[in-house]
Amino acid sequence: MTASTVVEHVYSPRGTATQLLECRDPEVLISGPAGTGKSRACLEKVHMVCMLTPGVRALMVRKTLVSMSSTGLVTYREHVAKESITAGHVKWFGGNREEPAAYRYANGSTLVVGGMDKPAKHMSSEYDLIYVQEAIELTKNDWEALTTRLRNGKISFQQLIADTNPDRAEHWLNKRCQSGQTTVLESRHEDNPVYFADDGTMTARGRAYIEGILDKLTGVRKLRLRHGKWVSAEGVIYEGFDRAIHVVDKFEVPESWTRYWVVDFGFVHPFAAQWWAEDPDGRLILYREILKTKRLVEDHARTMLRASTKLLPKQRDTGDDLVASLRDGRRVWTEPKPRSVICDHDAEDRATLEKHLGMSTVGARKTVSDGIQAVAARLKPAGDGKPRLVLMRDVLLERDQALADAEQPTCLEEEITGYVWDTADGRKAKDQPLKERDDADDAMRYMVAQLDLGGRPRLRFLGG
Ligand SMILES: Nc1ncnc2c1ncn2[C@@H]1O[C@H](COP(=O)(O)OP(=O)(O)O)[C@@H](O)[C@H]1O
Ligand SMILES: [Mg+2]
Repeated sequence: MTASTVVEHVYSPRGTATQLLECRDPEVLISGPAGTGKSRACLEKVHMVCMLTPGVRALMVRKTLVSMSSTGLVTYREHVAKESITAGHVKWFGGNREEPAAYRYANGSTLVVGGMDKPAKHMSSEYDLIYVQEAIELTKNDWEALTTRLRNGKISFQQLIADTNPDRAEHWLNKRCQSGQTTVLESRHEDNPVYFADDGTMTARGRAYIEGILDKLTGVRKLRLRHGKWVSAEGVIYEGFDRAIHVVDKFEVPESWTRYWVVDFGFVHPFAAQWWAEDPDGRLILYREILKTKRLVEDHARTMLRASTKLLPKQRDTGDDLVASLRDGRRVWTEPKPRSVICDHDAEDRATLEKHLGMSTVGARKTVSDGIQAVAARLKPAGDGKPRLVLMRDVLLERDQALADAEQPTCLEEEITGYVWDTADGRKAKDQPLKERDDADDAMRYMVAQLDLGGRPRLRFLGG
């Protein structure tokens, strides 16, 4: 250790962030709207404990490793441990066959990074401190399994700390807080000095984020992300949707399962593409998706083909023409071709998509009420206790940063939970959905309508 290097790090916690740093309860959750400084406070605490006491073992974990790496580590690297990393006191270790990825401290402390979808490496260890990011994504079992890992004994307390945006009122984590098993700290925007000055006035960045983005949200997203409330959506369309049942860990789809692609066009609104597999019992599984604004249909078509094919060794695509290289065998399918590409009706976009996929498409059955009923029917657990439609977790090809920055849903799962009936102007619930951020919902509905409300069309491959 370069002990002579003095590392200066500035963090001024406020309100619940201060309480979080001081809390010694066995389980503590910092809950609140988006951007209040919850994750920052948790990371500062973990980092501080690792720095102050040699030999500490800490874990930071999220439901999936992908989401942990893409979002959770950024604040740690760029704000919390920045100076320590620059000074060489903290080094990244990428993990190997036996050991999980971790930040290693010069004093012997370790901060392991994990995803509950890949528990093998991090769950076999013991820790002094565990930080769960976006805790609502975990199941109660995940949480309880983590509590059993807290017994390293290097510090005077062992603690599970967690942050989250709120979810439904009945969520197990909210109940756990209400029962007193988990201490809850209600974080507020006023706690974040980036958004509120010391005298309590909103800063320019605060106005841009809180008034410019959060105040413009609607419905349940606004209640949760702007006001930090644990509420269920009013008039939610898919009442039966339950993350614990309908969202499953990623798995390799067997070669023999039928595939379908669905597309809902958009440019200013997101373009949605979904890859579905149908298992031998007729269950639908979402295994890949795109939800992306401001990209041309032909570029999406290339992305879609690239995701399902590969170039053979020593071959090249001619220009951007994947269709040609597929036709002459330089590029091959890595998974079955879709039985059909089910598509929104826009004539021009459809022609562009067909051209750049080299496949024909079928027009989606777009009637709304019966489509919604068909999806709802599939969400209901069948006789064997399993629903007939599930989504794999974290299967977005690329997160749309513009949607994320605007706190809009970035994938089908996030859309479903905010998909509500339009009850404005005295309209009855169950008449029509609110036409807002429903692009991935629409695509899912087209998928189900195609199978459950009509005959099954076959796909004709153009020239191949
Ligand atoms: N006390 C603080 N001092 C400086 N920046 C802060 C502080 N608290 C939060 N921030 C910054 O505000 C932004 C949002 O904080 P974050 O922890 O990601 O919010 P949340 O997890 O509540 O959504 C981050 O860039 C974070 O570094
Ligand atoms: Mg956060």
